[in-house]
Amino acid sequence: MTAEILAIGAHIPERVVTNEELAKTVDTSDEWIRSHTGIGKRHIIADDKTTSDMAVEAAKTAIKRAGIVAEDIDFIIVATASGDYHTFPSTACVVQSKLGIRHTAAVDISAGCTGFVYALEMARSMIIAGSVKKALVIGVEALSRITNWKDRDTCVLFGDGAGAAILGANDDPNGSGIIDSFLGAEGDGYEHLMRKAGGAKHPFHIGEYKEEDLYISMNGRRVYGFAVKVNETIINTLLKRNNLTVDDITRIVPHQANIRIIQAAAKRLNIPMEKFFVIIEEFANTSAASIPIALNAMQERGELKKGDLILTSGFGAGLTYGGNLIRW
Ligand code: UT7
Repeated sequence: MTAEILAIGAHIPERVVTNEELAKTVDTSDEWIRSHTGIGKRHIIADDKTTSDMAVEAAKTAIKRAGIVAEDIDFIIVATASGDYHTFPSTACVVQSKLGIRHTAAVDISAGCTGFVYALEMARSMIIAGSVKKALVIGVEALSRITNWKDRDTCVLFGDGAGAAILGANDDPNGSGIIDSFLGAEGDGYEHLMRKAGGAKHPFHIGEYKEEDLYISMNGRRVYGFAVKVNETIINTLLKRNNLTVDDITRIVPHQANIRIIQAAAKRLNIPMEKFFVIIEEFANTSAASIPIALNAMQERGELKKGDLILTSGFGAGLTYGGNLIRW
């Protein structure tokens, strides 16, 4: 038995901020951002909305497409680094409340941009164990709320959005389902991508913290090197241990952090770029939401068909990494 993705949905905020707009407030340019990252614009959450609102919209679409009702869900897992509240309560509990479901288990996970990949595997394991029948797995970020808009090193990179999947059991060994997942972390690199203030190590004491410590900080070059390395590891590991070659894979859906990271993986692994599904130009880096948003875009463009073999590849804060091999 495995767990299959019964449906996927996404929510993208309407408001678009172009590179040109950013260049009016920080010392950057459309040319620099496009050539260094592949990003053309990003979608930013409306002022009167929050993370759980986007998550709920994505979830509602996925629930509808799965042909179930919200009450059928018995586990909600939300991967986010920019939840409604700092540390607690979980955004998953707010989502549960807004969906009008009662008693369902609900939890957030913190695995940075790899969050959705981790969450899929956690939900799959619980379905296989028999403790969950239908899981709602969400990757969502309102990164604009924790971005330092004065810091050109980071503010050009991120965007907001949500993606959601409904998972259920499938007894057919050759049917749709998550075939395998490969998860890992290099905790020694935890300082390279972080939001410093607010935890037990650097608690909020008014007047004692630096403003920039409230926002995302990243050692871009260090994370870039890590990302290129683990992308290769993830793809090679999932192929090797499932006796597959890259020709067996329909599409690779990588975390959309930087087109150059994807191009480097393509070059190192000798895989044509067309094999990778890339939408970074439109959405920028939406962290834990990037892979489900990409899957949703593939589906809506008719590029995702039953029986396709999909390989996801994620990496991010932690430093975490991981991938899922999915028969659609
Ligand atoms: O999703 C989580 C995982 N995150 C990632 O995977 C991100 C990984 N890192 C990256 O994608 C890249 O390292 C960045 C996009 C963050 C930076 O690209 P880079 O090619 O590594 O640039 P750099 O940091 O080496 O900086 C090159 C130059 C510097 O100027 P100098 O020192 O050469 O004079 C920067 O100050 O570009 C400058 N720079 C900018 N210039 C214009 C940095 N940001 C900007 C900017 N506009 N926005």
